[in-house]
Amino acid sequence: MNGEVMKKKINLTLNGKKMTLEMPSHRLLLDLLRDEIGLTGTKEGCGTGDCGACTVLLNGRPVNSCLIFSGELEGADLVTIEGLKIGPELHPVQKAFIQDGGVQCGYCTSGMLMMAKALLDENMSPTEEEIRFALSGNLCRCTGYAKIVQAVQDAAAELRAKQPSHG
Ligand code: FES
Ligand code: FES
Repeated sequence: MNGEVMKKKINLTLNGKKMTLEMPSHRLLLDLLRDEIGLTGTKEGCGTGDCGACTVLLNGRPVNSCLIFSGELEGADLVTIEGLKIGPELHPVQKAFIQDGGVQCGYCTSGMLMMAKALLDENMSPTEEEIRFALSGNLCRCTGYAKIVQAVQDAAAELRAKQPSHG
């Protein structure tokens, strides 16, 4: 095939927008987001699935985008840190991370926020243990984790307060 790379059409939804991309199936989702689409909020830490910095949501589930190939994305619904805001407003996890000092250098933050959102989408009243377990694949070299856990607890409280009451 004289070194020519075969490209494949992939239809997906990214942060609520439908799009068709053409690329080699072995292109990594992380590179696709950062280099092809220009969404650089998703970070590369280890590149081997160990740090969580590259976490995005794929069909509502958190995944390490450094381990996903483009060829697996046909029909996928992807959400990245750029799609986390609710309209013009920051998502409660974003607000809480800022308020509680859960961000220092910020390198881990996108991945932490996406993982925290995934947790809170499933469980709006997580215990500290559940939060620590959910974030156990997301490494942070700066904060010591306590402020991050606090931020997730505060975001959970805000989300619960916003719930319509069923009384
Ligand atoms: S860059 Fe993907 S898990 Fe570290
Ligand atoms: S804030 Fe620096 S790695 Fe987490």
